Order: sequence, then structure tokens, then C-alpha cells
Amino acid sequence: MRFEGKRAIVTGAASGIGRATALRLAYEGAAVLIGDIDAAGGEALAAESGGRIAFQRTDVTEPAEIEALVRTAIDCGGLDLMVNNAGAGGARETIGAIAPADWDRTQALLLRSVAMGIRYGAPAMAQNNRGRGGGAIVNVSSVSALGSGYAPVAYSTAKAGVLHLSRLAAADLAKDGIRVNAVVPGFIVTNIFTRHLGVPDEHRDAVQQAIAGNAAKAQPVPRAGRPEDIAAAIAFLLSDDASFVTGTHILVDGGLTLGTRASWDPDAPSLLSTLEQFR
Ligand code: NAI
Repeated sequence: MRFEGKRAIVTGAASGIGRATALRLAYEGAAVLIGDIDAAGGEALAAESGGRIAFQRTDVTEPAEIEALVRTAIDCGGLDLMVNNAGAGGARETIGAIAPADWDRTQALLLRSVAMGIRYGAPAMAQNNRGRGGGAIVNVSSVSALGSGYAPVAYSTAKAGVLHLSRLAAADLAKDGIRVNAVVPGFIVTNIFTRHLGVPDEHRDAVQQAIAGNAAKAQPVPRAGRPEDIAAAIAFLLSDDASFVTGTHILVDGGLTLGTRASWDPDAPSLLSTLEQFR
């Protein structure tokens, strides 16, 4: 019960990583307010939580809606923990073809949303200093922040921005007793690869299963990444176990970024295997 008496906001919690995080925080004692554009999913989670989770429809591309979400938390007793998680794949065009409006839309969804989450969440947490003791923020980045080939350019650039923003905000906000960190998920099987890419409902389960099968082979750890894997890291960073941890990130990727595929897959072609043929 690491979060007994704490009040949390999780954005994008109608599905996937956000949903698992809201459940984990509630399970460990927090009162959780979730924001999402998916009202059906958000309300369903609130209904099944037995009163631990409340939902407010929130579009994180609208700063006023983030501010309203924080205002609701304050009206309900304050804000201690915030997870800026909501997101989707964004524009898929290459840097040689992307339209300016699509670039802006993707940054608003994946980077400005996080900045505004901190912008409105931090002052609410700073007030906690008078009686409740600061707060903690975790922002959801991605392995695509670390290199090419994982996701489209607009998404990856935004996620790299999330990492740097987390460091800068950590430096700014430490004086208010607020820690800011990020998680860097690898390949996690969620709706981001199905529903939110327009896969029709009737095919969703089959596509999800195929993705889970591929995900198990995507990295050295031979199983698919799960939303709960990321929720566990987020919960650690939010908890007092991490009270001396700020301005950094935890990579939760099953080893995806350890090196080239040849470094862990004996069947992958490598320079060494090419040389072996000529021995
Ligand atoms: P998901 O699609 O299961 O969940 C994303 C949630 O965000 C959905 O409930 C969706 O309705 C909500 N959302 C989308 N746009 C929104 C908006 N404008 N305002 C409010 N809510 C909005 O996807 P997943 O995978 O759980 O994604 C969560 C975060 O994790 C995202 O930021 C994503 O970029 C990040 N991530 C996911 C990875 C993966 O492999 N699944 C890898 C690395 C990062």
C-alpha cells in the first residue's frame, strides 16, 4: 500500500499502459483520477474499480482540459502523483513528406500534452508542500527517443523531447519537493497497434494475437511486453522507494535496445557469421 492517502492523475488510462498504471496505483491505495478521450473505456474502468478510480473526459491536446482535470483533483482534496501517458502513433509520414499541420498535431499530442500536464500539475503539488509533502510525476517516453527505426519521425522526436523535458522539469521543481522522471517502454502489446490504427473490431483479437506472437521474438527477453511491466516501473518511480531519484528514466524494453539482433539471436545474420563461411 505504497500510495495510501495519495491522490493521482493518470492520462490515457482507458487502455493499455495507462489503464494498468491506474489499476496498480489504486491497488496500492491511491485515489486515482483518469483522463482520456475514450469516455466508454474510462467510465468502464471507473465502474469496475469499486470507487478507487474516477473518470473525467479529457483531450490532452487541449491545455484547458488538462487544467480542468487538475482542478477536479484539487477540488477532491489535492494532487500528489501525476502520470502523463496519453498518446497515439501520430503522423506516419517521413521527414521528407510530412505536412506542417501533421507535425504540429503530433507534437501537441505527445510533447505539449506532457509539458502542460507538468505546467498545471506541478503548482497543485507544490501547494501540497504545506501539509502533504510535494509530489512525483512520471512521463511516458519510448525507445524511439533513443534511435531510429522504432517509430515515425514526428512521434520519435516528441518522445525524445519528453525525456529532456523530464530532466529540465526535475531541476526546476526539486525545490518544491516534486520529482520528475520518465519511463521508456519497448514494444508493449496494447491497442496502440490495433484500435488506434483503425483495425476493425472484428479483426482486433486476431491482430492482437499476431502482434503478441511477434512481440515475443522482438527482443532478447522471449515474451511480449505487457502494460503491467511499465506500470510496475511507473509505480516505483512514483513511490517513496524512489525518493532520491529525479530527472532520469527507466528503460523497460526486454533488452530491445541492447544491440543489434545478431548480439542475441543466433539465427540473425552477422559480420561474424559471414566470416565463418570463408573459414
Ligand atoms: P493505448 O492505445 O492502449 O492507450 C493510449 C490511451 O491514450 C488510449 O486510451 C487513448 O484513448 C488515449 N488517448 C489518445 N489520444 C488522447 C488524447 N488526445 N487525449 C487523451 N487521451 C488520449 O496505447 P499504449 O501503448 O498504452 O500507450 C500509452 C503511452 O505509451 C503512449 O504515450 C505511447 O506513445 C507510449 N508507448 C507505448 C509503447 C507500446 O509499445 N505500446 C512503446 C513506447 C511508448
